Amino acid sequence: MRRYDLALIGFGGVNRALAALIVERGEQLFEELGFALRVVAITDLRAGSLVDADGVDLAPLLATTPDELAFADMKGGSRDPRNEWVIREVQADIVAEATFTNPADGEPAVSHVRWALEAGKHVCTTNKGPVALHGRELRELAAQHGVSFEFEGAVLSGTPVLRTARRLLSGLRITGVEGIMNGTSNFVLGRLEDGADFEAAVSEAQDLGYAEADPTADVEGHDVQLKVMILANEVLGADLRREDVVCRGISGITTVDIKDAADKGLRWKLVGSVTRRADGGVDARVEPVALSADHPLVGVSGPVNAVAFRTDLLGTVTISGPGAGPIETAYALLSDIIAIHHAQANGAAASSGHVLEETVHG
Ligand code: HSE
Repeated sequence: MRRYDLALIGFGGVNRALAALIVERGEQLFEELGFALRVVAITDLRAGSLVDADGVDLAPLLATTPDELAFADMKGGSRDPRNEWVIREVQADIVAEATFTNPADGEPAVSHVRWALEAGKHVCTTNKGPVALHGRELRELAAQHGVSFEFEGAVLSGTPVLRTARRLLSGLRITGVEGIMNGTSNFVLGRLEDGADFEAAVSEAQDLGYAEADPTADVEGHDVQLKVMILANEVLGADLRREDVVCRGISGITTVDIKDAADKGLRWKLVGSVTRRADGGVDARVEPVALSADHPLVGVSGPVNAVAFRTDLLGTVTISGPGAGPIETAYALLSDIIAIHHAQANGAAASSGHVLEETVHG
């Protein structure tokens, strides 16, 4: 039996939900999967940092509202997040990175991931920036240090798109990918179909928690652009940069466009797509497309996301599920931790984690 000590970088909705999963399901995971999880450090821009080599008592932290949480007066606490020191110096097996990412350069998440890999720690992150903008470099860094770099939550939160493509579809030739990968824009398009006004629909998506605080990245396609880069680079082996991915959002779609499409039996969707060209290269784009009734993504409505893989032997394989949400994204981190555990068990990465000398369950 193993135990993995975690450093949680960022203690917003996602890592709080992961902490709650550890509290609520720790024993079950231990019994079903054969490993225990312990949090030894937490950093947060607002709360500061907290380090306890014997394991942080998570329940009182989860009982405190994020606005009231302050680590400064706790044993092992500081008002300073001390991200670099915690990531590099605190003894931990896995860094769970869930801060924020600037879509232009991926920071500060990229530095967090880089520091952790350099320190020989496994990383799981929910951030798109490090994977989309620096995926190859970070994968190489992980390999150099014999550790795992996992990022299932970067595309469709915990819905297992990346792991399905990379593991379960191996042996197939994936010729293209099409996806509805932004819940906000899909929700807004649905509300336009219902007759709502664009601005009101965006505001509704914000109230429901789908949209980013600044929904520009949602409606202008920038969020999907990063996801498309991840699919192109990590699944189809391309090496695309942001400027290689054509990006148009839904802000130009009018109620007249919606009605004209409906009259022809079509539905507008914001589609991110990756296509393998005959010369072996890869084209990628994000744009509104009026889909016909027989398209695999046409029935994907509201905040639901879906990705359709075009394959040589199976035809189209479509995966649908949530694309956002703290619990759903925390599950992505948990699935990454499980993947790290399997890699350890298979000896795919350098040995890490603690062999438990006494197990709780004998
Ligand atoms: N705001 C995004 C969406 C979720 O609406 O799908 C995170 O990528």
